[in-house]
Amino acid sequence: MSNAWNEGYFTDEGYTYGYSREINPVFQRYCLLLRGFATLESTDGHHCELGFGQGVSINIHAAGNPGTYVGTDFHPGQAAHAIGLANDWGSDARLYDDSFEQLLARHDLPQFDSISLHGIWTWVSRDNHKLIVEFVRRHLKPGGHVYISYNCFPGWSPMAPLRQLFSLHDRFASQASARPDQRIDAALQFSEALLAANPNYANSVPGLDAKLQSIKGQNRQYVAHEYFNRDWNCMYFTDVVDALAPAKLDYATTAVPLDTVDPLNLSAEGMDFLEGIEHPVMREQARDYFVNQNFRRDLYVRGANRLSASEHRERMLGTRFVLMQLADSVAGSVTGPAGSATLQADIYGPVLDALADDAYVPKTLRHLLEASPALGYGDVEQAINVLIGMGAVAPCQSEAAEKLAQARCNTLNLQLCRRSLFDHKIQVLASPVTGGGVTVSRFQQLFLISIKQGKTRPADWALLAWGIIGGQGEGLLKNGKALTTAEENIAELTEQAEAFAEQSLVILKALKIV
Ligand SMILES: C[S@@+](CC[C@H](N)C(=O)[O-])C[C@H]1O[C@@H](n2cnc3c(N)ncnc32)[C@H](O)[C@@H]1O
Repeated sequence: MSNAWNEGYFTDEGYTYGYSREINPVFQRYCLLLRGFATLESTDGHHCELGFGQGVSINIHAAGNPGTYVGTDFHPGQAAHAIGLANDWGSDARLYDDSFEQLLARHDLPQFDSISLHGIWTWVSRDNHKLIVEFVRRHLKPGGHVYISYNCFPGWSPMAPLRQLFSLHDRFASQASARPDQRIDAALQFSEALLAANPNYANSVPGLDAKLQSIKGQNRQYVAHEYFNRDWNCMYFTDVVDALAPAKLDYATTAVPLDTVDPLNLSAEGMDFLEGIEHPVMREQARDYFVNQNFRRDLYVRGANRLSASEHRERMLGTRFVLMQLADSVAGSVTGPAGSATLQADIYGPVLDALADDAYVPKTLRHLLEASPALGYGDVEQAINVLIGMGAVAPCQSEAAEKLAQARCNTLNLQLCRRSLFDHKIQVLASPVTGGGVTVSRFQQLFLISIKQGKTRPADWALLAWGIIGGQGEGLLKNGKALTTAEENIAELTEQAEAFAEQSLVILKALKIV
């Protein structure tokens, strides 16, 4: 493939097919609301994703959220994949293979309620930063928000020189004719040899070798995009605040709910120290030193409007939440940079019970509070936030929005399940309840096809799955061992289908995926 268009971005290896909940406008609005910010919420909003990769998240969100979507990724293979999927479910999303510069030159784009860029900022040039900022300046509505994630200092300081070595080896010492995976392996081997020769750099940074070994074990597509681009602009939080200011953006809050729970992230000494810093930007930057932050997921607003305390509470009380797993499977503790905390049974027990009531249907915070009379508003709000941070609970959109998204999600999910007949690339389905994605493995998607065909017994779901997988010459692994006979494979699939029936279906029904 000619790569004259790629501006030094490592495009020889396509990106992964992952899903990111932080790009979901419903999730973003919850994070903003939690911190008392007013957000734009309408059933005919416009949303944009810059650099959508293979387009899994943008398709899920375009189906799950009412309104319209625009997105671009200049990798034509990835854009073709995203557009192919959008066409499959009849989406009206406008997906392009424009560079950011080309997208900026369009005159037919709306004003957006939200613009998201996940895993983009660090890996593009300073010129592209300016284009992105200009795009936001022109196209974000007043009151709209931006989600942006990026690698940052100080957490990256020890590793940055190692990343530089990979990219330099690829540029100066790789054979241009070698396959991308061979070029990556060669750069990793070169770096390993360099570290083994005891440079002072390695002596002053403990643990580099272990880090290199862990990178060697990672998915090559991910490694290519994370470490092998010509551009790699790791920045401090404050530098990003400055860079986004010309688009009239102010930092609002993190899109990582657990970041808002101080005891999980900071020592008592750290909390005391930060409390003494008045300026919010300085405080947030200093906080990155305490947690040694290396990757930030942030929300910015154009024209930050704070809700009054009573309006904030009222909106929180009116927000619905839903469990993403069985209540009794939620872990009893949670871990952050400052250590682990046990979830207090007298708080989390009643909240989880209330969420599980009535076949797990979504409940408002008001309902959860009424169902747990011994708990105060603050207890329930924090418990829900921690559970969201753990991925056990998700915020929901309005019932009106859910109704508008239902048919779209049904069509997309059917197409995704059909794709599972051929491969396991996309292991996520769209929920009209949360507006976002839910992990559903290939086998589980095959079980859903069988359910759609009217089969009610897990043993029949397993037979359908085995017919597909076995027919393609594939088989399952159990405890790391390949199952070789049809009987063994069917028995394992039946076990998985029974677990799916007992543990997953109730959740998928509450999420209106089934
Ligand atoms: C690390 S990937 C992240 C993809 C996606 N946001 C995700 O998280 O799955 C970065 C993406 O940005 C795209 N990209 C890089 N530079 C670009 C540019 N100048 N214009 C448009 N897309 C670009 C790449 O093709 C790549 O798919």
